[in-house]
Amino acid sequence: MTSFSTEEIIENTITFVKNELKNAEGGHDWFHIERVYKNTLLISESETVDKTVVAIGALLHDIADSKFHDGDETVGPKKAWQFLKTQNLPEEIIEHVINIIENVSFKGGNKAQKFHSKELEVVQDADRLDALGAIGIARTFNFGGFKNRKLYDPEITPNLNMTPSEYKASDAPTINHFYEKLLLLKDRMNTETGKQIAAERHLFMETFLQQFYAEWGGEK
Ligand code: ADP
Ligand code: NI
Repeated sequence: MTSFSTEEIIENTITFVKNELKNAEGGHDWFHIERVYKNTLLISESETVDKTVVAIGALLHDIADSKFHDGDETVGPKKAWQFLKTQNLPEEIIEHVINIIENVSFKGGNKAQKFHSKELEVVQDADRLDALGAIGIARTFNFGGFKNRKLYDPEITPNLNMTPSEYKASDAPTINHFYEKLLLLKDRMNTETGKQIAAERHLFMETFLQQFYAEWGGEK
C-alpha cells in the first residue's frame, strides 16, 4: 500500500470532506468543518494531544450527520472508516478518530458519553465554539429556515428536559434552540481556551437576544 505523510493524509481528508459535503446545509458544510479545524488547531496549541488525531477528527466529525441521514448514527463512522482505511494509517489512530466522530455531538446533552480522551475534548470544544457567537446565531437561523421553523413564538416555551429522541424530533421555533442548547454550552466546555472564547461568544448571544425581544415588542 502507498505510504502517505501526515500532511498528505490531511490534504486527502480535506479533498474527501469537501466532496462529501458539497450539497450540505449551510451550517454543516465545508466551511463549518474548516472553522472547526482552525478552532481545533488553536485550542491544541495549549493542550497535549496527538496532532494527527485532532486534525483528522475535526475534518471528519460531521462527515455524515445523523440528522441528515434519517437519524442513522452509523453512516458517519462507516464512511470515515472506509476512507481512513485507504490512507495507510495505524489502526489505533483510525479507532481514535472513529470514537471522536461517534461522541462529539451534543444530542440534547442528556446522553452519557461513552468515550473519553483529550483529543475528543479538543474537537468537541472546537465544534461547540462554532455553535456560539455571530456564526452560531447565523447557523441556527439557517437551520431553522432549512426546517421551515418559526423564528420565535412566545406561546411555545423552551423544553430543557428533552430526551435525545425528543431533541432530534423537536420542531420548536428557532429561538428556543438558544435555551435548549446554545446558552448551555459555555458551562460544558472542556479546555481553558474553549471556556474563554465561549464566555465571550455567550455574551454576544445574550446581547442579540435582548435586542431581538426589544424589537419584537415594538421598542425603538
Ligand atoms: P451537535 O453536533 O453538537 O449535535 P448539531 O449538529 O445538532 O450539534 O447542531 C449544530 C448547529 O446546527 C447548532 O449549533 C445550530 O446552529 C443548528 N441546529 C441544530 N439543531 C437545531 C435546531 N433544533 N434549531 C435550530 N438550529 C439547530
Ligand atoms: Ni460540527
